[in-house]
Amino acid sequence: MRVLVTGGAGFIGSHLADALVAARHAVTVVDDLSTGRREFVPGGAEFIEADIGTLKFADITQRVAPEVLYHLAAQTSVSESARNPCGDAEMNICGSLNVLMAAQRAGVKRFINVSSGAVYSPDAPLPCREPAALAPLSPYGVAKLAVEHYCQYFARFRGVPTVSLRLGNVYGPRQNPLGEAGVIAIFLQRMLSGEPVEVHGSGAQAKDYIYVSDVVDAFLRLLEVELPDAENLTDRCFNIGTGKPRSVNEIFAVLSDITNYRLAPVAGPARPADQKLVTLDCSRAQKKLGWKPEVGWEDGLHQTHEWFAANRGIFTA
Ligand SMILES: NC(=O)c1ccc[n+]([C@@H]2O[C@H](COP(=O)([O-])OP(=O)(O)OC[C@H]3O[C@@H](n4cnc5c(N)ncnc54)[C@H](O)[C@@H]3O)[C@@H](O)[C@H]2O)c1
Repeated sequence: MRVLVTGGAGFIGSHLADALVAARHAVTVVDDLSTGRREFVPGGAEFIEADIGTLKFADITQRVAPEVLYHLAAQTSVSESARNPCGDAEMNICGSLNVLMAAQRAGVKRFINVSSGAVYSPDAPLPCREPAALAPLSPYGVAKLAVEHYCQYFARFRGVPTVSLRLGNVYGPRQNPLGEAGVIAIFLQRMLSGEPVEVHGSGAQAKDYIYVSDVVDAFLRLLEVELPDAENLTDRCFNIGTGKPRSVNEIFAVLSDITNYRLAPVAGPARPADQKLVTLDCSRAQKKLGWKPEVGWEDGLHQTHEWFAANRGIFTA
């Protein structure tokens, strides 16, 4: 199949591009390299440096004529979205709309949108099921939810077969440790270089961490599966996580052991737009996609550690 991946030079997108190339699909990656890295794009994929929010992106999509479009390019920092909601919306809402319009013009047969567990209400019963209350706390989550609505609109009224994956907190090799998101990558980078590690708030805040290869597995399953009608917003949304909460304190303890880190954590301020606890019920993905997470927590952390230890210095400020 001809497949276009936006954000395919980034953390998750580059693992997806690897898997698509390995499965012998014809892959084009479009990325502006704002946080992504050219060397993460597999050799077997075409790479085009471009901004998804531009006319050039529509031209590229027209020329590539993908059958499937995976949309991952995004401003991914929750804190940045709180500092600059306008810039976040321009990128994550208007940019995504540009991608949806281009996909429609190119006649894609499947549009796979990447959303987030950040769309759920903090009051939703845990683990969150897809039809649970939606009330994002951050502009990042608001934008992700808006794009899910646009996806449903494009599915119902403009003939674009869209589907959204609501990811938990993804971790694994290649995650950028220099931003404010990606606690596992940040801790590993700092622990491996013997630097102080800051824990925000009490450290009891817990999220649903999912290893990147499990996320890629879910993405690939969406190539084949039949989609239900898009009557309601959540009919075509799938949670992708483990359902198990892991606190920041727990992550600090396990990674300290793995890396032989001996310093105590440094207390930092709590983050206001951060949900305290999110876990995702993934029984819908299990039932409809035959998907379940395969990589255990300790295994995932060890594999991530091995990659960061072998690639020291790859990420520098
Ligand atoms: N990492 C997570 O825990 C997580 C959780 C839920 C959802 N997501 C979503 O998954 C997707 C991928 O996230 P990631 O963690 O791999 O982050 P990432 O920053 O590594 O990847 C994003 C990619 O998009 C590219 N990009 C940004 N703006 C662009 C633009 N205007 N035009 C073209 N390319 C642009 C960046 O260069 C980067 O390569 C995002 O949509 C993110 O919101 C990530």
